[in-house]
Order: sequence, then structure tokens, then C-alpha cells
Amino acid sequence: MHDNNSALENDPLVAQALADEKQRQQTQIELIASENIVSPAVREALGHEMTNKTLEGYPGKRFHGGGQFVDVVEQAAIERAKKLFSADYCNVQPHSGVQANQAAFFALVKPGDRILSLDLAAGGHLSHGARANYSGRWFEAHHYTVDRDTGRLDYDRIEAQAREVQPILLIAGGSAYPREIDFARMAAIARSVGARFLVDMAHIAGLVAAKVHPSPVQHADIVTCTTTKTLRGPRGGLILAGSDELARKLQSAIFPGVQGSLHSNVLAAKAVCLGEALRPEFAAYGQWVKDNARTLAETLVSRGIDIVTGGTDTHMVLLDLTGKGITGQEAEQALSGANITSNKNPIPFDSSRPSEWVGLRLGTAAATTRGFDEAAMQQVGNIIAELIEVAAGRNPDDAISKAQAKVAEVTAQFPV
Ligand SMILES: Cc1ncc(COP(=O)(O)O)c(C=O)c1O
Repeated sequence: MHDNNSALENDPLVAQALADEKQRQQTQIELIASENIVSPAVREALGHEMTNKTLEGYPGKRFHGGGQFVDVVEQAAIERAKKLFSADYCNVQPHSGVQANQAAFFALVKPGDRILSLDLAAGGHLSHGARANYSGRWFEAHHYTVDRDTGRLDYDRIEAQAREVQPILLIAGGSAYPREIDFARMAAIARSVGARFLVDMAHIAGLVAAKVHPSPVQHADIVTCTTTKTLRGPRGGLILAGSDELARKLQSAIFPGVQGSLHSNVLAAKAVCLGEALRPEFAAYGQWVKDNARTLAETLVSRGIDIVTGGTDTHMVLLDLTGKGITGQEAEQALSGANITSNKNPIPFDSSRPSEWVGLRLGTAAATTRGFDEAAMQQVGNIIAELIEVAAGRNPDDAISKAQAKVAEVTAQFPV
């Protein structure tokens, strides 16, 4: 039941949904790779009256009065992000990762220009030129993929394709590629064909901040990311660059190019999250996220489950369920029945129909924030293996209630 002292007492419908969501987060194991659990300080900033403030423009150059305190948090967010990522330029205003990418396009390419990015099934992102997204309609999008045998990027092939396609913009990064990307090599490929180089590090930004993953900032013309996911901040985006060569273009690309007023309270929350990421504890957290992903992958492999690329260098583990004869959707439902949240995902060269995808994507950022350790991750891996056997019809249905009980035990041990 919702809190009777809540300011939402006159809106029981929303109050109840919020209370239910809080309870869901407490009782489920969150393994969606793009999710995390923000700190109370980030939540306080998000819920602050600063949300009432309308402002356009940048600190010191606003189109409305009364912006002096928002200036403080925006400037702090910029300075902290520049320090955290060793960047010379940062824009903290993007409302989302997609809008950060949109602004990068606005600064670098024109409608009809050729772009070259990672194929969606191989782990690319919709906003990098997928047909269903505006970026696939406005630009001539070409896609590189991964090696069929290893599941990894094949840089020689990408180079050959770049020579053939002659893109104006080469894009690296995505939402389901679990291995490190050789940013220096990708930058060299872009340079060799006279293309600009954009890296979307949305998923790995927290790992880069923690210095447990190589940074693309010194290699790319522009780096975009979200502040959600491994960076453990509010919903929103960032744009970074290793030099300020494109600063003027990027400033006007966000405002007035693709956005209007900024989200003042979210800027405060971004400043808080970036401040948290600068602390030594965050470096330890990043290492722990990676260790947990490796433990999860190793446990699943030991239980006979195939993992795309055989393992992970990040927070992400992508299961290939071909050998189990089930779809990602069936696996997602089986896990969900035992209160484990995940998502179906294509694997490289998969069907274009989501209902036929044979991948399941898992990530360890949220569970690690709760404190899940190696033993807990092994337990989670074993529960998942049992549930996949249920979905494949090789385990009795009562395995689900046993899995539920084990999940309840683990979640009680690590409160949100
Ligand atoms: C690589 C990548 N870029 C961009 C985005 C989009 O971010 P948002 O949902 O904030 O627009 C995502 C989201 O999952 C992503 O994985």
C-alpha cells in the first residue's frame, strides 16, 4: 500500500503505481543491461523544485532571467564531466542518448550523407541509422557487422567496407556488443577515408569513468553517452570531445538545433552523479560490475549455455539460445516468472523479427549497485540456467517456484 503521508494522497492511482514500482525493484533481480539504481542524492536532485525553472541557452548566456542557480549546477556538471573523462568539451544538456546522437549528426552530417555504423543485430543502436529511426531515413546508412565465428568486430573488414562506402561519418559503439572496441583502430579507419568518427559509449560510460575500460575520448571527434546505465545517473545524455574544435557547432546543435529548454533538475542530478563517479569508490564499483559480469558468464557457460563471443569485457552478457531451441522471448518470460528481469535481444545474424530472436541480454550494473557479490552472481547464474531448462521443457514446472524462493532469498540479502 502507498505511503499515507505522501504528497500524492489525492492521486491514489499514481501513488499506488509508484509504491508498486518501488516494491518491484526491491523484490526482482534487475538484469536489464541499461538499468541501474541511482543514489538517494541523485533522486533528491531529480525531485527538486529546480524542475520549475525554464531556461534556454548556456550558463551566462540565457534567454530567461533567474537562472543563476541552474548556472551553478550546469557549470559543475560540465567541469566534473570534463575531469572525469579527460575531455576538453562537454555539453550536459541532451535530454537523452538519442538526442545527444541527433546533435552529433546535426554538427557533422547533412541529410543524404553516408554514415557507417554497427548493424543492429550485431549490437548497434537504432539511432545509428536503423531504418525504423529518423537516422535511417535522413542519412544513407550502411552497416558493418561482426565476424560470424567469433562474434567480434573484424577491423580489416570494417576498413575494407569503409573504403568502399566512403562514409562522411563512422560510428562505433552500441547496445549489445559485450567486448572492448579498439577505438584507436576505428579512428584510424575513419581518418584513412576522410570520415569523422563518432563513438556512442552509452553502455560503457561508467566503466570508462571508472577506468576499467579504454576511453574513446582521445580518439573520436565526438563521444556521446547516456547518464543512465553504468554511469548510474538520471535519464539523460552527454556530449564530450577530446578537443574544442567542434565546440561551437555542438553548442548550437543541442540548442537551438535539436532541443529547446533544458531540464534544470536533471542537470542538477547529472552534476551529482558525475561527482559520485569522480570518487574512488566508483572505480571500485566499475571493477566489481565487470567482475560480476565475468562470474555470471562463466557460471552460465559451465551450465552449458552459449554466450556470444564466449564471454564479456564489460557489464554485459549476451546469451545465444540457439542450442537450447528456445527464443529470447521465451527465456525472458521464464526468468520473469521467477522475478528476474532481462530482455530478449537479437544476436549477430539473427532474424529481423523480435519474436524470433534467439538472444537474451543480461547486465550486472544494477545488481552490483545492490551489493551482489561473486557468490550471489553464481547463484543468479545457476537460477537462470535452471529457468532456461524449464523454458526448453527439460525441467519440471515446479522449478519455477523453487527459483522464485531462491530469488526472494537473494534479494532480501541485498536490499535496494
Ligand atoms: C548505444 C546507445 N545509444 C543511445 C541510447 C539511447 O538512449 P536514450 O534512451 O536515453 O535515448 C541507448 C539506449 O539504450 C544505447 O544503448
